[in-house]
Amino acid sequence: MRRTISYFQKMHDQGTKIAMLTAYDYTSASIVEKSGIEIILVGDSLGQVVLGYDSTIPVTVDDMIRHIQMVVRGTQNTHVVGDLPFMSYQVSIDEALRNAGRLLKEGGCQSVKLEGGVSSQETVNAIVESGIPVMGHIGLTPQSVNQLGGYRVRGKTEDEADQLISDAIALEEAGAYSIVLELMPSRLARQITSRVNIPTIGIGAGPYCSGQVQVFHDILGLFPDFAPKHARRYSELGAEVQTAVSKYVADVKSGDFPSIAESS
Ligand code: KIV
Repeated sequence: MRRTISYFQKMHDQGTKIAMLTAYDYTSASIVEKSGIEIILVGDSLGQVVLGYDSTIPVTVDDMIRHIQMVVRGTQNTHVVGDLPFMSYQVSIDEALRNAGRLLKEGGCQSVKLEGGVSSQETVNAIVESGIPVMGHIGLTPQSVNQLGGYRVRGKTEDEADQLISDAIALEEAGAYSIVLELMPSRLARQITSRVNIPTIGIGAGPYCSGQVQVFHDILGLFPDFAPKHARRYSELGAEVQTAVSKYVADVKSGDFPSIAESS
């Protein structure tokens, strides 16, 4: 049985931290599940780290469904959240419902995530009312990068901080089961976490959230283009893979591979 949203609420109520990580395919998802993670996010960050775009903007609902399916096939117990990509929920509530439904029905995830607070309140409420759990996402919201003017820390001014607190409360009132707090000062994340009763999941938002989320490629040193300050590097897999593949290339060229034992 996969982890449920009531399990995460119980963890939050008991003060037990929630660990969430992104994954985008069968193999990485099955490794991540064995590591004891509670939630896998199939994030639209796949736009950059898997599909090679320079933002999340081009990601489509079909891209998301394809990758959610892979992650769901690679896991049995982990709760899988699917990101609703840019313009899949902003045009109308009908479209938001249709696309959220597609992520669950065709992708197989157990909940969806979307960006925005007060501005997304009605949409979140409609999706929740239809029976689909929603995780909110406020602070730096990468789908609005062109509106925000870059990937910068949010909530540093009093006005921005007040807006983010209102956004979190709006999401809770709309029925969201959890909220991602991305790139904001720790003291603001702490304030938001104490103002709402649902779990907050931080990324670049300090230690006071109910849990943390990171991007798979960032914590494993797999993405050469960019290394966010908030991502602790637990491995240098990119460099290790390159060393291993270079050895393979050298062995093929020298004739050392395959040996007789590796031949049929
Ligand atoms: O798409 C993603 O990976 C995300 C996380 C950064 C929270 O939304």
